[in-house]
Amino acid sequence: MGLPQAVKIVEVGPRDGLQNEKDFVPTAVKIELINRLSAAGFRNIESASFVSPKWVPQMADGADVMAGIERRPGTLYSVLTPNLRGFEGALAARADEIVIFGAASEAFSQRNINCSIAESIARFEPVAQAAKQHGVRIRGSVSCALGCPYQGEVPVESVVDVVERFAALGCDEIDIADTIGVGTPNRTRAVFDAVAQVFPRERLSGHFHDTYGQALANIHAALLEGIEIFHASVAGLGGCPYAKGATGNVATEDVLYLMNGLGIETGIDLSQVVAIGDFISTAVGKPNVSRAGKALLAKARSEQTSCV
Ligand code: HMG
Ligand code: MG
Repeated sequence: MGLPQAVKIVEVGPRDGLQNEKDFVPTAVKIELINRLSAAGFRNIESASFVSPKWVPQMADGADVMAGIERRPGTLYSVLTPNLRGFEGALAARADEIVIFGAASEAFSQRNINCSIAESIARFEPVAQAAKQHGVRIRGSVSCALGCPYQGEVPVESVVDVVERFAALGCDEIDIADTIGVGTPNRTRAVFDAVAQVFPRERLSGHFHDTYGQALANIHAALLEGIEIFHASVAGLGGCPYAKGATGNVATEDVLYLMNGLGIETGIDLSQVVAIGDFISTAVGKPNVSRAGKALLAKARSEQTSCV
């Protein structure tokens, strides 16, 4: 299988990148981040969560964020919805896509959404039905697909099982998520190969956290499996509140640099994303962990100084 000619990059920074921040990030900053991302060319931005504010306080302002953003035609604004209450919030907020999120590991399911895998699927059923009724796209996210912080190894069959259940709920897209960034390329290929037997390959996506520095290698491995959708977080922001020690998603700037080098179309302007990475890491007082982002910023600054 050759490499795809084009990929869709789903920017998850406003949700996955920020959800773990201890200090509340002002709503206006979240809105500016999303607006700048849509202007840079992202066609899909994971923008907020409609979850319990007791569980994830940083996402408590989802309705205000969604009300404040400028909707760019052709851009999908996605939000996380763990239950019907979340769906109602998402619908009122005019989300284009809802994300139901489960896990391939029982232990993680309990810690993240306080129920078993089977209970989570039962809870997602009315959410998926309501989304279909209202014509809202549904994405399913499978956490711990390459390993679990509590259980360790996760069998490929467990991932396939959840993907099949999400497919039965009518998911338009399904994310294979390496929540704690432990996966390596051969494992990544094996998992995508297996799940592509039960769900269309072109609607599968790779959601890689970069804890062990393997995310770009895993993305390349997934490209070789014909995967065409990848999630990334600008400046590499993030971490999961229910996966101690897990770092952020792979940095968007690094993914764009890789895709540009491979000659794969993304429709996104890297230089604008580098500037956005600088903006958001400064705004939240976090180091920018994108290697390409930092290198390009340093290059731009040295070019500016050498001109004077
Ligand atoms: P629970 O405590 O079992 O449920 O939580 P509950 O129904 O008893 O609700 C608890 C409280 O939350 C109640 O309030 C509810 O009203 C309220 P109280 O009566 O105590 O005042 N509540 C809500 N409030 C607002 N919006 C809602 C909502 N639902 C209940 N939708 C629940 C169960 C699922 C709600 C909870 O566990 C939860 O919200 N979990 C969210 C966890 C989360 O957001 N995790 C991070 C996102 S997933 C992720 O990062 C992984 C991903 O990136 C992929 C990867 O990397 O692996 C996607
Ligand atoms: Mg994640």
